[in-house]
This record gives sequence, C-alpha cells and structure tokens, in this order.
Amino acid sequence: MCRRIPVSEARCPRPGGRALIEFEDKGLALFNIDGELLAIDDSCPHQGASLCGGRLEGRVIQCCAHGLRFDLRSGYLLNSPVLKVPCYPVEVIDGEVFIVIAAEETVS
Ligand code: FES
Repeated sequence: MCRRIPVSEARCPRPGGRALIEFEDKGLALFNIDGELLAIDDSCPHQGASLCGGRLEGRVIQCCAHGLRFDLRSGYLLNSPVLKVPCYPVEVIDGEVFIVIAAEETVS
C-alpha cells in the first residue's frame, strides 16, 4: 500500500526549479530536471542537512553542509552503492502531481 501526496500546481516546480513539500513531520524535496520530476527526502543521510537548497548540477544535488553529492534519480551517493537518500516516484494523473510514498516509508 502507498500514499499519494498531492502537489498543488502552484507548488510544483518548473523546469530547473525545486520545491520543499511538507508532509506530516517530514520534508520532501521535489526537483524538476528538464521536465522530469524527482522527489527525495529533504534530509541528507550524512548528518541531516537540507538537500533542497543544495547545489544542483544536472540531476546531481550537492549537500550544502559537507559537499556530498547524490543522484536524484537513484538517491545514491555518487560512486557509492551504500549511502542513499530515500527517493520517491512521482506520478502525474490527469494533470495532477503526486509524490508516492510506500506505507512502510511513512513510519520513520
Ligand atoms: S550533512 Fe550532508 S554532507 Fe554532511
């Protein structure tokens, strides 16, 4: 089972943009990379800094705190299969945007 978090049109980022989406007690960072919407936890797996405001290069986000870089599509730290930020599918249904979170991922 999963939950679909609606993103209003006003909050949905345009190409090249990003938005912080609040959901219950967590923040989700939503990026629009050339029209592709990619969502991750807004919490760096290193020490929890916000990733939404990081430096974006292609589909790689660099954490402002200590510079670790994550692939927005996979969530993985570049060149590492170990450290990963949770990332979530984004669906567009009848023009409405939803971030999809599996039920077990909402328990943290
Ligand atoms: S908190 Fe992100 S690299 Fe340290």
